[in-house]
Amino acid sequence: MKGIVLAAGNGSRLYPASLPISKILLPVYDKPMIYYPITTLLLAGIKDILIITSKRDIDNFKELLGDGSEIGVKFSYAIQEKPRGIAESFLIAEDFIKNEPVALILGDNIFHGFGFSSMLKTVGKRTQGATVFGYLVNDPERFGVVEFDKNNKAISIEEKPENPKSNYAVTGLYFYDNHVVEYAKTLKPSKRGELEITDLNKIYLEKNELTVEILGRGFAWLDTGTFESLLQAANFIQSMEINTGMKIASIEEVACRMGFISKEKLLEISKRYKQNGYGKYLEKISKTI
Ligand code: DAU
Repeated sequence: MKGIVLAAGNGSRLYPASLPISKILLPVYDKPMIYYPITTLLLAGIKDILIITSKRDIDNFKELLGDGSEIGVKFSYAIQEKPRGIAESFLIAEDFIKNEPVALILGDNIFHGFGFSSMLKTVGKRTQGATVFGYLVNDPERFGVVEFDKNNKAISIEEKPENPKSNYAVTGLYFYDNHVVEYAKTLKPSKRGELEITDLNKIYLEKNELTVEILGRGFAWLDTGTFESLLQAANFIQSMEINTGMKIASIEEVACRMGFISKEKLLEISKRYKQNGYGKYLEKISKTI
């Protein structure tokens, strides 16, 4: 399975902080925001990842992440010229996806919760249909919204409905089979001029091939769209990390735990950051994994 991180938006709600640099490169507590979605893909066992950025930011992403060989994976890069919609990812990534299933995650989506790794492992093995994740929210009108019948089967999905049929938002993590490019090519721009991911999900729903996994109450799906929510996300990560002594979404640690790199390699990487707590943490982890 291939993976895509979509990180091309202009993040205008975080101007002036995100005026000269992608919001997805800003830190959420002790690491760049993109570490969180990359970790989600790594936990699903995905090692071949395309990062879609704007033309302006591509070199910054390359400087941070390189070709991925350092952590035993492959990162490649593509440009989205304009934010023409999340589903445009599959048109941009056609040559990268080839005939494989693919997972897409939005660069600003942070997931954390018990049991997520095993859920991702299961979903990452599916080769038919599509899987999305539903999360209970207070303000569903801001999101894609999924409605269920009595048997918890998804029966409708709408983008930012004025009158939401449920409180379940569709999060920014999507798994598709190898028909996704073919279906994405049939989409037409919505009223807001975008190729909507919700329209793509509707195609799978109509074919009875959409699975919605529910992320329960103990689960955190964090928003980073505004200064307030970015700070709240950072505070959440900080308090979890301080309480447990473990870091959330260290891509180097996860790569080692997934068996993509050796403990010796992790120790070598830790030396690069030895002047701060991140490096010290990697050093400690490399001796206890
Ligand atoms: O976060 C989950 C929600 O993401 C879903 O519930 C919605 O169904 C889905 O449409 C999307 O909602 P928004 O329309 O509010 O997403 P937004 O435009 O804020 O874009 C999400 C991220 O993707 C953001 O970091 C910018 C980036 N992006 C967005 C578009 C439209 C791109 O890189 N390129 C794009 O063309």
